[in-house]
Amino acid sequence: MKRVAILISGGGSNMMSLVADMARDDFATPVLVLANNPEAGGLAKAAERGIPTACIDHRPFQGDRAGFEDKLHETLLAADPDIICLAGFMRILTPGFIHKWQGKMLNIHPSILPLFRGLHTHQRALEAGMCVHGCTVHEVTGELDGGPILGQAVIPVQSGDTPETLARRLLPMEHRLYPAVLRKFAQNDRSPTQILE
Ligand code: GAR
Repeated sequence: MKRVAILISGGGSNMMSLVADMARDDFATPVLVLANNPEAGGLAKAAERGIPTACIDHRPFQGDRAGFEDKLHETLLAADPDIICLAGFMRILTPGFIHKWQGKMLNIHPSILPLFRGLHTHQRALEAGMCVHGCTVHEVTGELDGGPILGQAVIPVQSGDTPETLARRLLPMEHRLYPAVLRKFAQNDRSPTQILE
């Protein structure tokens, strides 16, 4: 059974979708939910389910990214995960940190990569006149939102869509995509996952 650590910054709905899927059978188990923000709503949700949680507040480390990442690394090492899932973790990690976990770290990004790396993806998809929008689960490498793509889900863009309506319709697709990719990745299956509604 693979040991999975999940890193969050906010509400943790993707984290919850991963946890729910892992609870269905024994392919993997969540060993840690870690946030960089004590207000992250996902921490309480994970604790309620008996999952160990940790918080490393990035704010006291202002200007000391290495210090923050050292603490992050130490906390992860103690949990001994086989796989780390970034699930709405909104801190940029340095190549030095990523290298230590390379091949073991996944991320979900709310766009059809390689389009719209970074922030404000829903707004940028609308501004670009996209007819479809989507999300991507990829392996994390030193390049921001740039690692090998493992799965994508797409939704149509509808007339009158706003960044908020797009985000709201995309989230349930994220909740289908991420568990599907993790389930395969945990079994060393990197074949592409496609969800086309
Ligand atoms: C999700 O939409 C995820 O794709 C996005 O943050 C949201 C987190 O929601 N991630 C990024 O933008 C990463 N750059 P959640 O906390 O409810 O899972």
